Amino acid sequence: MGNLTRDFFISLSNNKILNANAKKWGFRLGAEKFVAGIDIDSVVETVKEINAHGISCTLDNLGEFVYEIEEAAFAKAEILSVLDKIHEENLDCHVSLKLTQIGLDIDREYCIKNMVEILEKAGSYNIFINIDMEKYIHYEKTLEILEVLRQKFDNIGTVIQTYLYRAEDDLKQLQDVRIRMVKGAYKESEAVAFQSKEDIDANFIKLAKGRLLGDAFTSIATHDHRIINEMKAFVKENNIRKDKFEFQMLYGFRTEMHSELRQEGYKFCTYIPFGTDWFGYFMRRLAERPQNLNLVMKDVFYT
Ligand code: FDA
Repeated sequence: MGNLTRDFFISLSNNKILNANAKKWGFRLGAEKFVAGIDIDSVVETVKEINAHGISCTLDNLGEFVYEIEEAAFAKAEILSVLDKIHEENLDCHVSLKLTQIGLDIDREYCIKNMVEILEKAGSYNIFINIDMEKYIHYEKTLEILEVLRQKFDNIGTVIQTYLYRAEDDLKQLQDVRIRMVKGAYKESEAVAFQSKEDIDANFIKLAKGRLLGDAFTSIATHDHRIINEMKAFVKENNIRKDKFEFQMLYGFRTEMHSELRQEGYKFCTYIPFGTDWFGYFMRRLAERPQNLNLVMKDVFYT
């Protein structure tokens, strides 16, 4: 897809009015192919079905552009109830969240307080919490808050985006933290990020291999079969244990590969987004892949 199309969808993903309005629409434009349900109750069965195939899940109660205390408090309460549900239903599932969702853009201390509450409850249930990585303006604050929280909690990890030049240095500081490796979903300037697919892919492969040789658990999060095949070969050549890493993919993408990888004996985790705040997430997925747009067109014109 051309950069113009990508930029168009990224700019839609950042449009606050559309994001706010979409919450009232219910799912539109085929979003239900990639967003599993509107609330936690509507996704529990999906998680159970996926778990039945030996695949774990991470649940993301979607939420972005949170600037009011009430919204952040609501998001935190929702995440706490997701943790209760995972525990009650005995799901093989952890939680992914964004710090902006629980107050990063409002007040740092307030955001940390919310995280502490979430991590305490998650810890009592033995559930892992992953902090998703957002736009670069939030990057340093996210790593700094992770550092604060790590002093007290070990059920926490984050994401490193390999489009960032600094990813390699940051990974050195995070050698004992569980990390999800991704290419990066936002539009960042060439001052901070590689722009070409070749550079981003090469950095992904180099950094993921480095992680696999280390001790901490790593999630290789990509739909790119070339990278997955390279990782599989690397793991084999270096006798890396299969319980030291997992592959991760987003719900609705390359579903057949989820089961194939699992059947080959690899750990696999499906990232399951849900909730009314689907617009930004969905627009970023359209920015990544033209075929997703084809699905949308079919939905708009044939249903
Ligand atoms: P990419 O889109 O580069 O595609 C590479 C190639 O793979 C394509 O050319 C095609 O051949 C093949 N391919 C890809 N998708 C396919 C499909 N659906 N069907 C068939 N072939 C396909 N980002 C971020 O900034 N912060 C975060 O916290 C996260 N979290 C996250 C979690 C998980 C589980 C995943 C999988 C991804 C993220 N991301 C993310 C998004 C990530 O940064 C990235 O934008 C997308 O994963 C797209 O890059 P890929 O590596 O998947 O392949």
